Amino acid sequence: MNETDNFTIPALRGPVPLSHLFLHCFLRDGHRAVDATCGNGHDTLLLAGLVGDHGHVWGFDIQQQAIAETARRLAEAELSDRVTLLHSGHEELAQHVAVQVQVVLFNLGYRPGGDRTVITRPETTGSALEQSLGLLAAGGIVLVTVYPGHSGGEDEQSTVEKWASGLDPRSWHCWRMGQTNVAPGAPYLLLVQKVS
Ligand SMILES: C[S@@+](CC[C@H](N)C(=O)[O-])C[C@H]1O[C@@H](n2cnc3c(N)ncnc32)[C@H](O)[C@@H]1O
Repeated sequence: MNETDNFTIPALRGPVPLSHLFLHCFLRDGHRAVDATCGNGHDTLLLAGLVGDHGHVWGFDIQQQAIAETARRLAEAELSDRVTLLHSGHEELAQHVAVQVQVVLFNLGYRPGGDRTVITRPETTGSALEQSLGLLAAGGIVLVTVYPGHSGGEDEQSTVEKWASGLDPRSWHCWRMGQTNVAPGAPYLLLVQKVS
């Protein structure tokens, strides 16, 4: 089964469904992807569907509960074989993934329904973003959903923005996508594509 076979355009309510639209565009059977923040496993499940029988996904989270919830979701969909789940910080990305990938996905912040004090942090996010660039295949993308609104979110936003705006335009296409009719501090999406 490959998710691209039964694609329905999602309602674009915020950056997460927008990121899903990009995932559908960029991933095909046999591709490889990283979910840098598994959380409740929704994104990991989508990635696992999109890479098909011949692809692979690596999923990271520092919370055991997040890994367990993601594992449960994958097992229910019978897609566990396509995913390596790592109870580890994404700042260790390059130690665990040694092949080129088409997509690295970050959905920053805290796990919905979980402990809101466990959030992604500027230093570790910054390190993981930098490592992601080294893993991307030509034309591949890093997608980052940024949440400036929660406690600690602004610091992380400033790290991510500094990183993205400093990338050499000859090597990277960088996009910032946010809704215009939402409150200041609403989440938005960054996309960085490696020039082919
Ligand atoms: C917004 S949630 C992710 C939502 C998820 N993608 C989904 O589909 O449900 C952010 C997750 O990042 C995790 N996280 C925080 N710091 C991390 C780190 N250094 N490495 C990997 N995951 C981290 C949190 O534990 C939390 O589960």
